[in-house]
Amino acid sequence: MAAHLAVVVLAAGKGTRMRSTLPKVLHRLGGRTILEQVLHNLKGLAHQHCVVVVGYGADRVRAQIDRPDIAFVEQTEQLGTGHAVQQVMPLLMDFSGHVLVLNGDAPLIRPGTLERLVTTHVQSGAEATILTARLADPTGYGRVFLDSEGQVLQVIEHRDCTPEQRLNTLINAGIYCYRWERLAEVLPALKADNDQSELYLPDTLLQLANVAQVEVDDPTEVLGINDRLQLAEASRVLNTRTLERLMRAGVTIVDPASVTVDDTVEVEADVIIEPQTHLRGQTRIAAGCRIGPGTLIEDSLLDTEATVLYSVLHGARVGALSRIGPYAHLRSESVIGKGCRIGNFVEVKKASVGDGSAAAHLSYLGDATLGERVNIGAGTIIANYDGKHKHHTRLGDAVKTGANSVLVAPLSLGDGVNVAAGSTVTEDVSQGLVIARPRQVVKPEWRPSYESS
Ligand code: UD1
Ligand code: CA
Repeated sequence: MAAHLAVVVLAAGKGTRMRSTLPKVLHRLGGRTILEQVLHNLKGLAHQHCVVVVGYGADRVRAQIDRPDIAFVEQTEQLGTGHAVQQVMPLLMDFSGHVLVLNGDAPLIRPGTLERLVTTHVQSGAEATILTARLADPTGYGRVFLDSEGQVLQVIEHRDCTPEQRLNTLINAGIYCYRWERLAEVLPALKADNDQSELYLPDTLLQLANVAQVEVDDPTEVLGINDRLQLAEASRVLNTRTLERLMRAGVTIVDPASVTVDDTVEVEADVIIEPQTHLRGQTRIAAGCRIGPGTLIEDSLLDTEATVLYSVLHGARVGALSRIGPYAHLRSESVIGKGCRIGNFVEVKKASVGDGSAAAHLSYLGDATLGERVNIGAGTIIANYDGKHKHHTRLGDAVKTGANSVLVAPLSLGDGVNVAAGSTVTEDVSQGLVIARPRQVVKPEWRPSYESS
């Protein structure tokens, strides 16, 4: 599209109805904040400027977004959506073209719908084009009134509507395309003669001659988030869309009703996701993995054909064909090699485990580097913390630790070292067998004192 386009996102409101200290647009759904999701939806839409109007919690919002291609304008007092756009006028003084204005609290709009709105607007030559929807329950939204030719006459806010006007189910989605020069002309004339005594952006439409509308096919796209119920509803809609996208791309989801996957997660074909599984953040699951049931994976990478059963992973990497769980906990900076086994009640933190190694039962592996084909016996604990500092442990290839051994860091065990069961190893061992436990003492003649008296 050759036309010049500027994008303005309104995100200055507190979001009173959220009942939160966090600015509304920083609440999260599908792995992003509401505002990040709105900005994400702009991908694919060529534009020259992107301006976000901030106000309540401005510093927090700015810090969260932090993108060089986005400019911020501050609206110090929240006097309405029209007032918010007025704040952008100095920045776009020399701009000529069209401006797409979006409410920052409607994250479910599809990129294709935005493209359709902009294209229709530019091609029709309208002064403004607004996005509308027919909602079964339009409560809370501004109602859109059309003339006999289908042109937009005006938008009346729910609270300003008469009971008859409220029967109108055509609503304003809060997404508008304007010819910037015309909007800049009529913006200064806005008046606050409404129930909230605010300057309403939709009132600009009254001053324009030729206002068109584009109605969305899927009413879930226009959902605005004003309270926690709408946040939950929007999360559900986004999750359903993500699961459908994955299933179409060849992922099996056994029970979609009990599975949540962030929009930010990548899953390759032929992955099987079992019930009660939650995939979050910057997670990537390669082809052929089997995940769940009962698993939470956040910011983690799984290579091909790994399996994870009833486990929790945060910031972990798992190699191909490795088996995790049941009941394993891989914490940040855990790197598990290929063909490993991390089993029942094993916790791993900031440790790398070489290919073909196993820790099958009841272990803690923290701040450690394990070679290949290491076997960690049941109940082996790495004592990495002296109460003040964390220390590192290095185990060579093919090290074997006996059941219930304690490896006191800092510690280094050479290739092939075996640790006898029940040992507490405090000094480095370069080769062979280490037995570090008191000798067993047996006193056959001994009797309890009460027997001899
Ligand atoms: C708005 C529309 C309504 C539409 C609905 C769609 C107005 C007057 N009404 O109502 O017609 O049906 O969205 O969801 O525009 N904001 C600012 N500064 C302000 C006030 C608001 O930046 O002074 C931002 C908010 O942060 C929010 C967006 O504008 O992201 C919309 O504000 P909100 O108060 O939620 O408007 P609604 O009552 O939902
Ligand atoms: Ca809203």
